[in-house]
Parts: sequence; C-alpha cells; structure tokens
Amino acid sequence: MRKGERETQSVTRRPGRGPRVRSGRRPSRLHRLAMATLALLLAGFAVAAWAQPPTDTPSAADIPPSIATESPTAQAQEGRHLFEQGCVSCHGFDAEGVKGEGPSLVGAGEAAADFYLRTGRMPADQVGSEPLRKPPRYDDAQIRALVAYVGSLGAGPAIPEVHPALGSLSRGMSLFNESCAGCHGTGAKGGVAIGGYAPPLGEATPTEVGEAIRVGPYLMPRFSEGQLDSGDVDSIARYVQLTQEPEDAGGFGIGHIGPVPEGLVAWLAAVAALLLVARLIGERGAGAPPPDSAPEGDAEASGRGEGAKP
Ligand code: HEC
Ligand code: HEC
Repeated sequence: MRKGERETQSVTRRPGRGPRVRSGRRPSRLHRLAMATLALLLAGFAVAAWAQPPTDTPSAADIPPSIATESPTAQAQEGRHLFEQGCVSCHGFDAEGVKGEGPSLVGAGEAAADFYLRTGRMPADQVGSEPLRKPPRYDDAQIRALVAYVGSLGAGPAIPEVHPALGSLSRGMSLFNESCAGCHGTGAKGGVAIGGYAPPLGEATPTEVGEAIRVGPYLMPRFSEGQLDSGDVDSIARYVQLTQEPEDAGGFGIGHIGPVPEGLVAWLAAVAALLLVARLIGERGAGAPPPDSAPEGDAEASGRGEGAKP
C-alpha cells in the first residue's frame, strides 16, 4: 500500500525527487494524531455526559415551607410578637402603615412577607431607598411565624408552588426575554429600571422568582395569573436556574469541573478540527490521481489502507 501511494505521489507532483516522498508520511502522522485526539475527545464527552446527573430532579428547596407543624393561629401569634419588636416602627402597630415610613401590610399576603423576609429586604434599614437583598435577619421558624401573621391580616397572594422541572426551558427563555430582560438584562445578569436597580437573579430561588412575579417588589410590576400562569412561572424559574450555572450557558457542562478544563477541551477540539482540515486539504492536493490514469475510488482506497495499516 505504502509503495503504491508513494508512486502516485511522485508521479503527480515532482517526478524523480527523492526527498519529496517523505512528505507522504507527514499527513498520515497528523491524521493519526487528529484521529487519536478526536477519539479521546469523544470518549471524554461520553464519560462526561454519562457522569452528569440529570438536572431535572426537583430538590427539597423548590418546595415552599407551606404547611407548618404549629397551628396557624399559634404561629400567627408568635409572628405578632416578632412584628411588635421589629416592624411596627415603620408599618404601624396594626400593620396599617405609617405615613412616610412603611406601607400598610393589610392584604400584602404571605407571598410578599415570605419574599421580603427570605431575601433579607425586611426589616429595612432605611426608608425611601430601594430595599436590597441581604442575608435574612430571621431564622426559618421566625419567618414562617411572621408570614402567618401578615397572611392573617387580610387576603393576599399565597406563596406560589414553583416546580422548575415541570417548566419548558425554551418557553421560559422567550417569556423572560419578553417580560423580564428589559429590566434584569439578558441572561438575568442585572440591569437598570427607571428610578431603580434591577438586581441580577443569581441568588433567587425558584420560589422567590415566583413570589417576585406575583408580588412585584418595589418598582417591579406584578404579573397576575392571567398574564403569566403557574406553568409560565415554572418555565421562567427553570430558565433563571440555567442562567445561574454560567459554565453551561454557552454549551453543555463537562461534569462541572470548572471553566479552565472546559475551555481547554474546547481549545483542543478546535485544534483537532484544524488538523483534520489541514489533513483533508493535504490529501486533496497530494493524493489526487492523475486525471486520466487512475480508476475511480483509487485515492479513497489508498487513504483507507493507510489508516488501517500504519
Ligand atoms: C425602616 C422601616 C421598615 C422596617 C423596620 C420594616 N419595613 Fe417593611 N417595608 C418598609 C418600606 C419602606 C416598604 C416598601 C418597600 C418596597 O415597596 O419595596 C416595606 C415593604 C414591606 C413589605 C411589602 C409590602 C407589599 O405590599 O408588598 C412587607 C411584606 C414588609 N415590608 C414586611 C416587613 C416586616 C415583616 C418587617 C419586620 C420584620 C418590616 N417590614 C420592617 C419599611 C420597613
Ligand atoms: C420594570 C422593571 C422590572 C421588570 C419588568 C421585572 N423586574 Fe424583577 N425586579 C425589579 C426590581 C427593581 C427589583 C428589586 C426590587 C427590590 O429591591 O425590592 C426586582 C427584583 C426581582 C427579584 C428578586 C431578586 C433577588 O435577588 O432578591 C426577582 C426574582 C425578580 N425580580 C424576577 C423577575 C422576573 C422573573 C421578571 C419577569 C417576569 C421580572 N423580575 C420583571 C425590576 C423589574
């Protein structure tokens, strides 16, 4: 095989020139290198795909702390105590609001209380400025008590049950781009809203996404069930989750081993592709049979023989 190939080569290119023959070997090394690299890459991708756990399983964190162990009234009473200590200065003794300090919470609903307390926005430090996300001041049991108290003040939005795994990623992305990206930026990386700041959504849990949609904190509009139903909320929450995994945003993660190895793999893949292209171009030029003498398929056959028998 090798011999035939050399002959073809010397005939096509420069008859009688010894050193040229060598060039026939070079592409074959490149070829083997490229093939080996590709095989390795494919194996790597297969292992990574296999090793990666399915991302769809709903986690315990997705399920809101809806049903408490305590009776609702006992919980609301406990919440009332906490409210007297931490909230009345701005929201008033009956939670009906204090002019210039804080709004009435009658009808604000459990969703608003849960959102503002879990994102640490309440208790606010300052009046008159946008409340920002902070570590929560209260623990889980205290938050549930305060939520029960605010909920007992009057009908308002309940804490939504958000299940990102039931949503559709593509729908979530288009809904987000339509309704949210104008303020929060594409990819939910944050942006400006008129008169305020729309935070990045990197820390928002699915439940908080659903609550923000129903409550409309600060300058954010609230979206009713008619505008975005619970399926839409699931889809948006799923998309927001995707934006929280930046290494997956542009492709697929390789077992989440970090940006450097993933970049390296992409780089290697590019090099392998270039080598292959170089090899193919070289083969075209070098291996083309003379116009009239070679039977059809000869070049292909010699190429294959070379791969099989190095
Ligand atoms: C320093 C004053 C201040 C304190 C203290 C404070 N709040 Fe607020 N609260 C505000 C202001 C101002 C707003 C309106 C902010 C906004 O619209 O985002 C607000 C908004 C809220 C809302 C949203 C109301 C709605 O209609 O959506 C809830 C719920 C809330 N506060 C609960 C609490 C609770 C519970 C506490 C006590 C743990 C508390 N706040 C303590 C000033 C305060
Ligand atoms: C008009 C601008 C505007 C639009 C449109 C908007 N938001 Fe917001 N959003 C805000 C602002 C401003 C805040 C901060 C509120 C605060 O600090 O109390 C916010 C807060 C949030 C938060 C809380 C983030 C955190 O880390 O605590 C979430 C989640 C959120 N928005 C989701 C959404 C989703 C989902 C949509 C689309 C359905 C949306 N927003 C549309 C302006 C907007």
